[in-house]
Amino acid sequence: MHIDLNGKVAIVTGAGRGIGREIAVTLAREGVITVVTDINESNLNDLRQEFVQQGYQGSQYLCDVREFGQIAEVVRDVEQKLGRIDILVNNAGVAGGGTVDTLQEEVWDLNLDINLKGTFLMCKAVVPIMKKQKSGRIINAASFAAIVPSYGSAAYASSKAGVEQFTRVLAGELGPWDITVNCYSPGMIPTDMNHFAELPAQQQQRLLDTLTLRHWGKKDDVAHLICFLASDFAGYITGTMIDVSGGKLATQIPRIAYERAAADGKYEF
Ligand SMILES: NC(=O)c1ccc[n+]([C@@H]2O[C@H](COP(=O)([O-])OP(=O)(O)OC[C@H]3O[C@@H](n4cnc5c(N)ncnc54)[C@H](O)[C@@H]3O)[C@@H](O)[C@H]2O)c1
Repeated sequence: MHIDLNGKVAIVTGAGRGIGREIAVTLAREGVITVVTDINESNLNDLRQEFVQQGYQGSQYLCDVREFGQIAEVVRDVEQKLGRIDILVNNAGVAGGGTVDTLQEEVWDLNLDINLKGTFLMCKAVVPIMKKQKSGRIINAASFAAIVPSYGSAAYASSKAGVEQFTRVLAGELGPWDITVNCYSPGMIPTDMNHFAELPAQQQQRLLDTLTLRHWGKKDDVAHLICFLASDFAGYITGTMIDVSGGKLATQIPRIAYERAAADGKYEF
């Protein structure tokens, strides 16, 4: 089985760094004409340089997913220049926290505006083009927080649960045009958003204790899923949430398996 994405056109939001950047570079390496957006100009310039150096096809736009005017301009430009949009990856996101009594209204709004409304606005702009094509793949970043939220994550978890439900609604609306809409839930992938791998050792161990596969996820674990969901092989998958979390809380106390393995000399904590 060979995933062939060569010549397809993708937009990846929030691709200046982290998982989004990995998704963009992976798609571009697969021959996808990859349009990236972000609000961080210097990270976009850095990515532009990588595209030039590697001979990847694509373009970079400064674009805030909260601003429909900016989004519409990017989408219009892409349609004029490339004639189509096959893949939309709504990766842009923020994670602001706080317990409900201390959570500031602005932090709540920021999470909802970028993570949920941003996803809606991007889809609103791209869907008419995909409908004309009678094809398309929309892939949204949810989070494991949409499945089991963590302490103090009311704003983030609510926004990501919204993304999951939005994904299903949109999948239902776009079925007649053969456009699939799915989302994914990364578990714990160290990035500048969370700095997991820089936490004190004891805190890292506590987080790793929740995992069935007891190690941090990698950015390319997500990028590879995106390639599959964007490909012809995933044509019959829509309206789903795919968990890329190393089996986080798949069992009640995943650590037990590791304690048993350690007792048998097969694992070292
Ligand atoms: N890293 C994880 O373990 C993890 C877990 C669950 C979900 N996620 C989700 O995956 C996505 C990427 O996460 P990450 O860890 O790479 O985060 P990150 O903070 O490293 O990257 C987020 C990117 O989004 C961009 N961005 C922020 N606001 C924007 C806006 N208004 N418009 C356009 N771009 C904007 C940022 O500039 C940045 O480049 C997010 O949606 C996040 O919620 C990540």
